[in-house]
Parts: sequence; structure tokens; C-alpha cells
Amino acid sequence: MSERRMVVAIDGPAASGKSSTAQWVADRLRFLHVDSGALYRAATALALRELGAADTWDEIRVLELASDVTLVPGTTSFEPRLRGASAEDEIRGADVTKCVSRVAQMPAVRRWVNEQVRRAAVGHSVVVDGRDIGTVVFPDADLKIFLVADPWERARRRLTQRLGRRPADTEIAEETERLVQRDAKDATQTVQARDAVLLDTTYLTQAEQVERIVALARAVERGGSRGPSPAGDA
Ligand code: DC
Repeated sequence: MSERRMVVAIDGPAASGKSSTAQWVADRLRFLHVDSGALYRAATALALRELGAADTWDEIRVLELASDVTLVPGTTSFEPRLRGASAEDEIRGADVTKCVSRVAQMPAVRRWVNEQVRRAAVGHSVVVDGRDIGTVVFPDADLKIFLVADPWERARRRLTQRLGRRPADTEIAEETERLVQRDAKDATQTVQARDAVLLDTTYLTQAEQVERIVALARAVERGGSRGPSPAGDA
């Protein structure tokens, strides 16, 4: 068993399938999945519980609340716990989704998330998904993927999953509009690393995209590579 630990970074815009793809890739490689967005969501959920209207939130209070979030390793992934408890439904809920971009703009919160994610990678090979993993969090990741897909297709996939049926075109159009707005809010931090492999999944099934990433990761493993060297925030 090799001592070397690998980092696979998967970045891309909202609803590009990063988290589900990252989990599936991690399962195939027997690595642990770290969803960095879940940490922003966890901090946002606590802010929603404790602070008033989102437009009054300040970075110091949100950061204080974030110290109640722990990232706990499971058998296939790291899970954020809020004051020791799982809160998957809460962090994926509409209220958190509406306010999370605000929290993700806070530099101190970004530094806190990055530290949690880097700590998770100590002692584990990981597949980490987010927006800036290949650029800021692990600029030396062994493999960097940037996932993109046409906004209409991203909206269609997201709605199909949420509604459990085929969405109507009008529904897809509305969801596309929301996604494009979220893309704009998150644009500053959603950056493709120069050495990332760009994967357009518009015409790929999820199994196909997973296969491609697993094949790339195995090629890197065979070729040998540097371990990750976490960088400080710029
Ligand atoms: O991928 P997601 O929807 O769970 O991300 C939640 C929010 O966190 C979204 O506003 C983008 C932001 N985010 C970020 O800025 N940087 C990351 N590495 C991950 C997520």
C-alpha cells in the first residue's frame, strides 16, 4: 500500500454535477469525498438559525458560528456536522441556497473552509469539489478537472432530480434563469486552473464523465506525481 496521498480537484459552476460526480469518482478510487460547498452551506445554516436578516450578517459573527461546524470522516466522505449533528436536509434547503453566496463572499469564511478542506486531506486521498479547489485550495492537486455544461442542460438535470419527473420547458427556462443568476454571484471564485482538464458534460452521461475522470486519475497514479502541498491563501 503506497503512503502517497492523492488529491483530485473537481471545480465548476452550480449544478454542473460536481458533488455527485466527485462522490462517485471517490467511491471508484476508494478515496474520500470532500464537498467544500457543504461547509459554506453549514456556516450559512447556523447563521440562519442564529442571526437575523441575511443582509445584516457580518463576517466575524458568521466565522464564530462556523467554529460549531466539524468535518467528520465517514466510510466514503467527510460530512459537516452542526454542533455535532448531521443536517443534510437543512444545508441543502432553499433558505440556505438563497443566502449561501453571501457567506461564500466573506474572505475569513473562505480561509476557514480552505483550512478544513486541507486538514481533511492530511492522511487521506481525497476527491474535493468546489469552485476554487484547483486554483486556491490545492494549486498542486495531482489532477484538476473543471466541469462545465450548458445552463439549459444543467437546469434540466437539476429539476429532473428534484421533481422526479420530466420537467416542462417553461420550468426548465425558469430554472435556467435562476442558475445563470447564481453563476453570476459565484463568478469571482469559480475559476478554471490553467492546468485543469476541461470536461464539458452537456452530452455525457454521468457514468461517462465518471469513467473519464477515473481513467485520468489512474493514469496519474501510474505515472506517479507529487503529493499535494497546500498553499496559503493569497
Ligand atoms: O456547490 P454548492 O451549491 O454547494 O456551493 C454553495 C455555495 O458555496 C455557492 O455559493 C458557491 C460557494 N462555493 C465557493 O464559493 N467555493 C467553493 N469551493 C465551494 C462552494
